[in-house]
Amino acid sequence: MWGNMLGVKIGKIVLEETDSTNNYAKTNITNISDKTVIIAKRQTSGRGRLNRVWVDLGENNLFLSIVLKPSDTYSEIYSNLTQYLSVALCKVLETYGLKAQIKWPNDVLINNKKIAGILAETIMNGAHLKGIILGLGVNLNADQESIMNIPNKIVTALNIEINQPVDISDFTNKILEEFFKNYEKFLQNGFIEIKNDYVTRNSFLNKEITIQNLNKIEKGIAKKINNKGELILSTKDNQEKTFTIGDIIC
Ligand code: BTN
Repeated sequence: MWGNMLGVKIGKIVLEETDSTNNYAKTNITNISDKTVIIAKRQTSGRGRLNRVWVDLGENNLFLSIVLKPSDTYSEIYSNLTQYLSVALCKVLETYGLKAQIKWPNDVLINNKKIAGILAETIMNGAHLKGIILGLGVNLNADQESIMNIPNKIVTALNIEINQPVDISDFTNKILEEFFKNYEKFLQNGFIEIKNDYVTRNSFLNKEITIQNLNKIEKGIAKKINNKGELILSTKDNQEKTFTIGDIIC
C-alpha cells in the first residue's frame, strides 16, 4: 500500500522486472484492488498502441499501470481516461518549466517530440467491468543515442529537455498526485471537466493531419474537439467526419 495521497488510498506494487506492467495487471486483475499502481523498474516487452513496441530506455524511465475499478459496468466516459491522464502529464511536465502539448488522442509532446505514451485496456467479463488498465510510459532519463534508435518516431526524454537527470520517484509522486487530485470529479463530469485544459494544449487543431483508424487512413483539417473528446475532421470534399478512436500519424 502506498498510503494516502490527497486523502485517496493508493495501492502500490513494485516489480524489479516484468514483460509489461499492463500484462501484469491483466493477468492479476481479479486480485488487484481499485486505484492500484504497478511500477516496473525494467520492462522487457512493453506494448504500445497499434501493436507497436514500447522500448525500455533503462532503469530510470517510468513504466507504470494504474488499475481502476470505478463501477461494475462500463461507462462511455472511461474512454476519455487516457485524455485525462495526458492532461495530468502535461501539468507535471510544465512544473519542469517546459511547454507540453497533446496530439489527439493522448500522445504528449515536448517541442513536437513524443515524451510519453499511454495505453488503456478495458477488461470485461460479459457486461461486468473487471477493471481498466491505464498504462503510462514516460522517457525520464535516456541517452541521446538510444532515443535516436527508436524506430518510426521522433522521440525525446525529460532529462534531455531540461539538461539534467530526473528523479524518478519525485516524478512518479507528482504524476499520481495530479492524476488522483481530480479523478472523482472527472468520473462525475467526463471529458467536459478537462476540455479546456486539453484543447489549450493541443498540437493539431486547424492543421492538415492524417488519421489512422484501424486500417483506414483519412486526411483533412482538424477542426475541433467536441464535448466527448472526439476529433472532428474536415475532409477535402468538405465533409465533416467524427473520430472517436484513431491516431494522428502525421
Ligand atoms: C503508445 O504507443 O504511445 C503507448 C505506450 C504505452 C507504454 C506503457 S509503459 C507501461 C505500460 N506497459 C506497457 O506494456 N505499455 C504501457
